[in-house]
Amino acid sequence: MLRVGLTKETAPGERRVALTPDSVARLGKTGIAFDVQSGAGDDAGYPDSAYEKAGATMLSDAQSVFQSATLIVKVRRPSLDEAMSLKAGTVLVALLQPASSSDLLTSLTQRGVTALSLELVPRITRAQSMDVLSSQSTVAGYKAVLLGAAALGKLLPMLTTAAGTLAPARAFVIGAGVAGLQAIATARRLGAVVSGFDVRAAAREQVQSLGATFLSAEIATPDAEDKGGYAKSQSDEQHRMTLEAIASHIRDQDLVVTTALIPGKAAPVLITREMVHSMKTGSVIVDLAAEAGGNCALTQAGETIAVNGVTIIGATNLPATVPLHASQMFSRNVETLIKHLAKDGNVAIDPADEIVGPMIVTRKQVADG
Ligand code: NAI
Repeated sequence: MLRVGLTKETAPGERRVALTPDSVARLGKTGIAFDVQSGAGDDAGYPDSAYEKAGATMLSDAQSVFQSATLIVKVRRPSLDEAMSLKAGTVLVALLQPASSSDLLTSLTQRGVTALSLELVPRITRAQSMDVLSSQSTVAGYKAVLLGAAALGKLLPMLTTAAGTLAPARAFVIGAGVAGLQAIATARRLGAVVSGFDVRAAAREQVQSLGATFLSAEIATPDAEDKGGYAKSQSDEQHRMTLEAIASHIRDQDLVVTTALIPGKAAPVLITREMVHSMKTGSVIVDLAAEAGGNCALTQAGETIAVNGVTIIGATNLPATVPLHASQMFSRNVETLIKHLAKDGNVAIDPADEIVGPMIVTRKQVADG
């Protein structure tokens, strides 16, 4: 019987859990057993009693889970200490940040662990329901607007009251992918006048369908995206036009949320120091690309700074600040992946599989002969 292990996250500030009791119960019906570390779901709002009710075996510490289970699921990458506790033949599934985890990947290989990185789920239709990056970006886009709104000295909606009429705030979202579209929808729900921008022509209709205006449609072109639907780097001329368009628009904005990303590259800088200086005192930038270097030249990852009266929030790991729903979505993604991996009471890792193949970052070495 396949045993799946779930431990408490150890990364600082991480409150999510990789599987919720509902997922454990559903997967349990397919003949999978669960070993859950006591307290694993506490910070996300899922108590031990709920896992017990779902049929999990509760264990007192992570070590016991690592010894008992074959498939370990986590939200964030394990620490080096945790990695050293995994037994040979374990399959590990987590957000492993493979590009910046070379020590960890070496340890996992030495331990004989097969590791699948959730960042590498291909963005194809079949894998959509396993796409953790998308589900977590949805949460981040929503929370970015709430953070920005809380930092503004203004209300977002237009209000007509006995104390006078308030003009609505102006919100501008740069990058209209998963996080950006959710930020636009959230800012609209809160009553702001919203505009959006993206280099992909396809984003225009999506932005407009949410009731926002699309900035400088002439810059967004169909050839701005690759076959997978991701943005490509802009030409120097397109980048210059983009900066010009943003510079003239940003001066009047109260809240700016940036989410522009090109996979595998540093975040494009779309808000320069000069643009920040041109903005109104009291306006706020929430930079979701902070960890990838930032879409604003002045962003500091994990910090909130004030420059010339403009607040710049270098938001990192926002999904962990909405742990109940972020975990629910994460868990649904992982549940689908586990169903895909489980075969005849074991985990089947097929490098030729179009979903699993691209996710493999370390593989248990099979001895010759
Ligand atoms: P996505 O790939 O769905 O969207 C990115 C969008 O940026 C695409 O629509 C792309 O066309 C656009 N883009 C690329 N270059 C551009 C440019 N020069 N000008 C305008 N738009 C451009 O990605 P997703 O999932 O929405 O993530 C967005 C960002 O948010 C990423 O940097 C991701 O790492 C970050 N993120 C941050 C979190 C946090 O807590 N800070 C949590 C989740 C995601």
